[in-house]
Amino acid sequence: MKILGILGSPRIGGNSDILLDQALAGAREAGAEIEKIILSQNKISGCLDCGKCNETGVCVIKDDMGEIHKKVLEADGLIHSVPVYFWAMTSQMKAYLDRWCAFFDEQWSMQKAYRSKFNGKKIGLITICGDSNISTADPIVHSFKNTSDFAGLTWVGVVQASAGSKGEISRNEAVKKKAFDLGKKAATP
Ligand SMILES: Cc1cc2nc3c(=O)[nH]c(=O)nc-3n(C[C@H](O)[C@H](O)[C@H](O)COP(=O)(O)O)c2cc1C
Repeated sequence: MKILGILGSPRIGGNSDILLDQALAGAREAGAEIEKIILSQNKISGCLDCGKCNETGVCVIKDDMGEIHKKVLEADGLIHSVPVYFWAMTSQMKAYLDRWCAFFDEQWSMQKAYRSKFNGKKIGLITICGDSNISTADPIVHSFKNTSDFAGLTWVGVVQASAGSKGEISRNEAVKKKAFDLGKKAATP
């Protein structure tokens, strides 16, 4: 069992990062092999909608997303963690998610070659917002939940939390436990 954590915040050691580490610790406790990708440390351009990947399943843009595509395909579970920036996901996470285009054909069906890789793959989400109302992140949940359904993934849940300053979330034991449990669930067959 391999669980891939994907961090959409550029703030290393920030709130999303802390909760993602909690989730990965939960996955490790459940016996999974874990890996974390920090999107801001990778070069990921936006999708060009050139349509070439619809034929080949491979994106024409030669940047770090090629390797990340492979890691997403090989993982048994994915945990994304991202803060709210202007009522939406960060640009790093959006550029990454748009590049999932390469997994689909021209009919927006999963590429035949990837179907077995996505079948049974689990996906979970962690959101952080500065607003005290955690529902501020609901548009991000909507985006990931629909993507999950669209790609035929198994949704394991979402942890939504509120925190502003860097690392503030570390004082919130209840939400750290929720993130830990989410990771554990993603790693449990
Ligand atoms: C550019 C930018 C835009 C933001 N926009 C929002 C927003 O629309 N709503 C909100 O609740 N918090 C907003 N925030 C606050 C962050 O979501 C909050 O500080 C969060 O804890 C950052 O998480 P991180 O430590 O994982 O980077 C914004 C922060 C930045 C830097």
